[in-house]
Amino acid sequence: MKVLVTGHLGYLGSEMVPVLQSRGHDVIGLDTDLFGNCDFHGTPVDVPTLNIDMRDVTAADLTGLDIDAVIHLAALSNDPLSDLDPQLTYDINLDASVSLAEAAKASGVQRFLFSSSCSLYGKGGDAELDENAEFNPVTPYGESKVRVEQALHTLACDSFSPVYLRNATAYGLSRRLRADIVVNNLVAHAATSGKILMESDGTPWRPLVHVLDIADAFAAVLDAPAETIHDQAFNVGRAGENYQVRQIADIVADVVPDCALGFGMHASPDIRDYRVDFSKIHRMVPGYQPQWTVRRGVEQLWAAYRQGGMTADMFAGPSYIRLREIQRLCAADAVGPDLRWSAA
Ligand SMILES: NC(=O)c1ccc[n+]([C@@H]2O[C@H](COP(=O)([O-])OP(=O)(O)OC[C@H]3O[C@@H](n4cnc5c(N)ncnc54)[C@H](O)[C@@H]3O)[C@@H](O)[C@H]2O)c1
Repeated sequence: MKVLVTGHLGYLGSEMVPVLQSRGHDVIGLDTDLFGNCDFHGTPVDVPTLNIDMRDVTAADLTGLDIDAVIHLAALSNDPLSDLDPQLTYDINLDASVSLAEAAKASGVQRFLFSSSCSLYGKGGDAELDENAEFNPVTPYGESKVRVEQALHTLACDSFSPVYLRNATAYGLSRRLRADIVVNNLVAHAATSGKILMESDGTPWRPLVHVLDIADAFAAVLDAPAETIHDQAFNVGRAGENYQVRQIADIVADVVPDCALGFGMHASPDIRDYRVDFSKIHRMVPGYQPQWTVRRGVEQLWAAYRQGGMTADMFAGPSYIRLREIQRLCAADAVGPDLRWSAA
């Protein structure tokens, strides 16, 4: 298939592109490259790229490219970033996602795989939530994911199949590393300071999934028959991979030698607290074969942080924390308040 991947230069996208290529897909990228300074483990694979801000894409940009499917990853990708300016979050994550899907549909694209998030379940409690669970988003980020899914549903028709892949919180090594997601963050604390600092009281539940298993899920949905994925939501993760933050910290303490467990300065109960049921994707998309566990991911990160020379200064800097890098770009006037690159 010919696949347009938006956000192909981000944490998930830079690992997904080679996975898609290895399965024979012809990949085109679309990304404004906000995190070009954030390489850790190699650099993203070079692919033909549409250098267009996703807010500006029209059907004319896509017509004639013979794109079969869009994988839509580009977004302000976490709660702190989207809390900075909720209206900007809705402009990018919601309105631009919907207009991109409309442009894709008008240009003849058949599948639109939206990178949604389990965070739309927000506060869930102890029961494992399946795809029919109530939405309970607690941030503009989570709210934007709900509203995109609802808008894409209205676009579904015989010739256009939107699919909502509700990823668990990702972890694992990437060319465009993020250390602002819980597993990567705890291992970075341990590797650079010998302390595992939890930023919550350790009790919240989190479903977790490796970045390569997310890539596998998107690739499997591309391969699945249209009738099994048409207008469907799938939780993306693996049975047994819901953890309390405290349990993740214990695994990190087990893998990284001589670490002390502790709480960060802003540790408090976290209202995002949910466990997720992943049986639907396994049942309906048998090509999906997740390989990773959190323990294996922690071992991968610990080895990579040592080999890549992750230092306390690097971890404290902007490169691997999305919010800090955006604040750095804004302070330097490299991007404006709308996160468009300055003309200069
Ligand atoms: N990483 C996770 O744990 C996780 C979990 C669930 C869902 N998701 C979703 O998956 C997607 C990718 O997440 P990620 O972790 O790779 O994020 P990321 O921040 O690493 O990458 C996002 C990419 O989008 C690009 N981008 C942002 N605004 C753009 C715009 N206006 N036009 C074009 N490109 C733009 C950025 O340059 C960046 O390369 C996001 O939609 C995110 O919400 C991520």
